[in-house]
Amino acid sequence: MAYKDIYESWKRDPDAFWMEQAKAIDWDEMPSKALFDGNAPLYEWFADGMVNTCYNAVDRHVEQGRGDQVAIIHDSPVTHTKHEITYKELRDRVASLAGALRAKGIEKGDRVIIYMPMVPEALEAMLACARLGAIHSVVFGGFAAHELAVRIDDCKPKAIIAASCGIEPGRVVHYKPLLDGAIEQAAHKPDFCVIFQREQEVAHLEEGRDFAWHSFQYGVEPADCVPVEGNHPAYILYTSGTTGAPKGVVRHTGGHLVALNWTMKNIYNVDPGDVFWAASDVGWVVGHSYICYAPLIHGNTTIVFEGKPVGTPDAGTFWRVISEHKVRSFFTAPTAFRAIKRDDPKGEMIKKYDISCLRALYLAGERADPDTIEWARKVMGVPVYDHWWQTETGWTIAGNPAGIEALPVKTGSPTVAMPGYDVQILDEAGHEMPAGELGAIAIKLPLPPGTLPTLWNAEDRFHSSYLNHFPGYYETGDAGMKDEDGYLWIMARTDDVINVAGHRLSTGAMEEVLAAHPDVAECAVIGVTDELKGQLPLGFLCLTKGVNRPHDAIVKESVSMVRDQIGPVAAFKLAVVVDRLPKTRSGKILRATMVKIADGEDFKMPATIDDPAILDEIREALQTIGYAKG
Ligand code: COA
Ligand code: AMP
Repeated sequence: MAYKDIYESWKRDPDAFWMEQAKAIDWDEMPSKALFDGNAPLYEWFADGMVNTCYNAVDRHVEQGRGDQVAIIHDSPVTHTKHEITYKELRDRVASLAGALRAKGIEKGDRVIIYMPMVPEALEAMLACARLGAIHSVVFGGFAAHELAVRIDDCKPKAIIAASCGIEPGRVVHYKPLLDGAIEQAAHKPDFCVIFQREQEVAHLEEGRDFAWHSFQYGVEPADCVPVEGNHPAYILYTSGTTGAPKGVVRHTGGHLVALNWTMKNIYNVDPGDVFWAASDVGWVVGHSYICYAPLIHGNTTIVFEGKPVGTPDAGTFWRVISEHKVRSFFTAPTAFRAIKRDDPKGEMIKKYDISCLRALYLAGERADPDTIEWARKVMGVPVYDHWWQTETGWTIAGNPAGIEALPVKTGSPTVAMPGYDVQILDEAGHEMPAGELGAIAIKLPLPPGTLPTLWNAEDRFHSSYLNHFPGYYETGDAGMKDEDGYLWIMARTDDVINVAGHRLSTGAMEEVLAAHPDVAECAVIGVTDELKGQLPLGFLCLTKGVNRPHDAIVKESVSMVRDQIGPVAAFKLAVVVDRLPKTRSGKILRATMVKIADGEDFKMPATIDDPAILDEIREALQTIGYAKG
């Protein structure tokens, strides 16, 4: 069948479509139907089925004869190590960890925070939680103690599983002091912590609270899989919103299994047994869906890569990994390719490797600029598929369904809506826009299986962030258009979320940190265009009257405050002191205009601006730090 037929078959009878896909999952009790709409506009999928994620991702493959197949390859250029774990070994390791967690009181519904670098133990921790029906929340290693503390207080974990350290090029990231600091800052305290001690750093363990990964599991009974309801939360993943408080995206078990399994063949075009590689991090949604869950649910081999596209040791690393492990489909963020292209513009490094095993490259996480796409296509010689999705959806909203039918690529467009998504472009009043016109991108409710049913502890915020603006739709926060062929074009965010090296960050969160500087009276953070990372945050600081300390010192302190409070991943290194901020007469800061000035783009003078002369002051201030090209 062609893509159009499949999309139409979903549209004609969504319940039948998803019940058919659900057959690929091993249920303890098959659900009676797909959609549960009794609480609309909140929807649930497969709510009355009983199922276990870990069973589907691990045990069933062993039972069905894949026990000796490699499930996880850990390729770690930063530690100069590589090793493989078969499905059978994975089952035994996960059952043992789950048994130890259960012996310490972890049960279905308990929350467990996981704070680990790119090691297979991170996946094992996720799967051990899933085995027990515990709800994990993985926190990215590049976040500081404060961000971890915020998440501890929001999801109130009974346990935290962490590693002693992570390794960034040139430095060891000391996880344990960050963890200890976070627990100290948080009002909620976990009952216990499990620490995976790495060779590179053995962390100090607190007597009675901390247990070492191996001794913790010694002599315990392995745990079996606990069946849970289809609408039982599998995990919570925090993502950036407009304010400093992150949003806890909830993922329900049944829909997650069904949708992710569907994507592996239909989008990524791999069969069970093939090697699939997503070069991201388990702390992000790409890591949840495509390093851990989807490849394992589908019986693929997944690669846990602990390194960077460049510098570990060079711009040929990706090609080595693809060639050495025979990767069939590869997924990463455009920024990684921009980094490789910058170091090796002619693509010389790839000539050393045979990457004929590779069928396609998939890009997501940020807008894929046409130059990068073209370069990747030329040097790799495979189709490059951009696809668009979000933490909230957990899988592709719009992409190229290469496993059904490879549609013609239009460079700059992530192609078409996947079955399950009725994507529409709306004007401010919620009316559908004609083809080719720019508007807010919204998805007609219900969202498909695998997407967020609500926010953790924050149903009101779920309504206000996503559902209230366009009744009957989910508001994506992205703006763009649809062309005559139904291809989508994603142009910009409609909120204050920025995207730095494929990482989603909140300028509002950075503003909250800067505003706490004793000399800062008012501030604004914007995302300016950056050739490598797509965007970079840039702060404007207005000082409190009477402060006459050197501006350099205040800027330096502000930069380190953001690094200490949010983390190095914020990549906040640019700030400038200004006398005042441009505002509308009603007091709204004109951030979009400031972005245009910094990027050297033309802009229309906002009709509501309070005092146009401020824009010249902004331009001059930006010029002092090398911005504002125009
Ligand atoms: N733990 C601790 N610190 C981390 C971290 C982690 N897991 N990941 C990143 N950081 C740190 C980096 O070391 C860097 O610190 P520095 O300011 O001391 O140099 C800072 O956070 C910013 O990181 P990043 O924005 O990633 O920049 P970079 O210069 O280290 O690397 C790229 C640039 C393009 C190579 C890198 O961003 C990359 O590989 N991107 C791939 C994108 C990706 O995986 N996106 C996920 C969504 S698909
Ligand atoms: P995250 O939740 O971190 O995955 O970030 C999601 C956001 O990243 C989206 O709402 C978009 O703004 C942006 N994004 C992700 N993929 C793409 C893409 N293929 N093209 C354009 N923007 C993208």
